[in-house]
Amino acid sequence: MKKYPMRINLNGEWVEMEADAGETLLLALRDTLDAVEVKNGCGKGDCGACTVILNGNPVNACLTLALQADGKEVTTIKGIGSAQDPHPLQKSFVEKGAIQCGFCTPGHVLSAKVLLDKNPTPTRDEITEAISGNLCRCTGYTKIVEAIENSAQSLNAE
Ligand code: FES
Ligand code: FES
Repeated sequence: MKKYPMRINLNGEWVEMEADAGETLLLALRDTLDAVEVKNGCGKGDCGACTVILNGNPVNACLTLALQADGKEVTTIKGIGSAQDPHPLQKSFVEKGAIQCGFCTPGHVLSAKVLLDKNPTPTRDEITEAISGNLCRCTGYTKIVEAIENSAQSLNAE
């Protein structure tokens, strides 16, 4: 299949790659760029495990064509913090026990990050709405919502 050259800014660094016309951003990230922190859950837009931030908005990477990301900024969970220097959301998810198996966590954190970037003082309903595309089989969501609230408070106190 014909491949097309493209480039994305992945977590702050421009990378060159090639993708075919039907290739999803999810497969390009995981298979070509080794960004396996982007999780492949359902592969059809139902679970949100593959959520990444594309030019400031959360998208399902499994429903986005790689070529649609050409020339754009893609942020994965690795782009917002590290084990040594975690983002307040990452810290709060750990502190509040909002992680069990962890498969959904990158997607939840990235959806929450976009919410807090746009709305630093969200209501509980707004938080629930922002993560409505991210499914969790383990936690029951209460702790996830609490972690996002907690993170909003600590970000606003900075
Ligand atoms: S893997 Fe993309 S929404 Fe489930
Ligand atoms: S922590 Fe297991 S799916 Fe959410």
